[in-house]
Amino acid sequence: MTAATPPETAPTDRRVSARVGSISESATLAVDAKAKALKAAGRPVIGFGAGEPDFPTPDYIVEAAVAACRDPKNHRYTPAGGLPELKAAIAAKTLRDSGYEVEASQVLVTNGGKQAIYQAFAAILDPGDEVIVPAPYWTTYPESIQLAGGVPVPVVADETTGYQVSVEQLEAARTERTKVVLFVSPSNPTGAVYPREQVEAVGRWAAGHGLWVMTDEIYEHLVYGDATFSSLPVVVPELRDKCIVVNGVAKTYAMTGWRVGWVIGPKDVIKAATNLQSHATSNVSNVAQAAALAAVSGNLDAVAQMREAFDRRRKTIVRMLNEIDGVECPEPQGAFYVYPSVKALLGKEIRGKRPQSSVELAELILEEVEVAVVPGEAFGTPGYLRLSYALGDEDLAEGVSRMQKLLAEAR
Ligand SMILES: Cc1ncc(COP(=O)(O)O)c(C=O)c1O
Repeated sequence: MTAATPPETAPTDRRVSARVGSISESATLAVDAKAKALKAAGRPVIGFGAGEPDFPTPDYIVEAAVAACRDPKNHRYTPAGGLPELKAAIAAKTLRDSGYEVEASQVLVTNGGKQAIYQAFAAILDPGDEVIVPAPYWTTYPESIQLAGGVPVPVVADETTGYQVSVEQLEAARTERTKVVLFVSPSNPTGAVYPREQVEAVGRWAAGHGLWVMTDEIYEHLVYGDATFSSLPVVVPELRDKCIVVNGVAKTYAMTGWRVGWVIGPKDVIKAATNLQSHATSNVSNVAQAAALAAVSGNLDAVAQMREAFDRRRKTIVRMLNEIDGVECPEPQGAFYVYPSVKALLGKEIRGKRPQSSVELAELILEEVEVAVVPGEAFGTPGYLRLSYALGDEDLAEGVSRMQKLLAEAR
């Protein structure tokens, strides 16, 4: 990510605009693509890169899509902002799951959570508006803020606070240009889950300064142990008029490939974002929307089963990673990622190489033992690795034991 300064060359000499040219490829998708390509070439790669459940989408959801394919009404354009019945079902699901009461007219159905985030930022940011982004951050946030003309302002929290930022840190980053604070709990990449009091403290601080909050609730159902999910606009109702909620079916229903997400917000913002979408993409695929309708109108049994498996894997991966000298892995309470510090390994010799950064260490791990992990640089905090534990139990154990053997050689 670099600042998009207008170049001084003639427009005809510029092949790619400064705005889009400054955007980097998604590092997480790049690691995943590299791992999948090596695997396709017959290499026994184990990928901890992808942020997607390894389960198939539940049958009743797939069946709803099959039926939708056969119905000619779905072969046509539908309203750009989403099927009315899906918007109503999303409003009902939101009340059921987080206690947030909204109308269908406050919902925009998007092509996944990613498009929800980009369009919501595009709808509220003017050039130079600052957005406070707690780091480690999911790699897409700063890029979509910048694409929308805004300026991401990272605020770093480390493992000593469970990767949770404090109100004091947020306040220190606030300027006259601050418009929005981004909030995500459970978090990608750290798995941090903010306790209700801390959610409330952040919300009250934002409301007190008239700031907007964009809260990403895509991992709402993936919390473990004693942790609980708290929705910011429910805990701090006075924020509602300046609160944008992002969510989607990808993680809860193992539907990453179907591409359905949504934005919930004040009606004027949703109207503006819908206008944008009407020119950018029109409606999300009707078949995918029909599948999402079955998902959000159904029960939460499938995610309960996935949560059990993820919880088991979470405990295994934390234990195995902490057995490695030089790796510090706090136990995350949500999502399906661990975010260990590998700072103590940097500069050490491993198989004739001396990785100086987490990027170099991740490359070494992939080259030497064919295990794909994402370096912390992708999330704004070098010196860490992100591993997704949304992969089968056997692969998980095999992948981490390969890392254990390799990293035991560090001198
Ligand atoms: C924090 C967070 N928000 C949003 C998304 C977007 O998901 P999708 O675009 O697949 O719906 C992801 C996906 O990795 C994520 O981790």
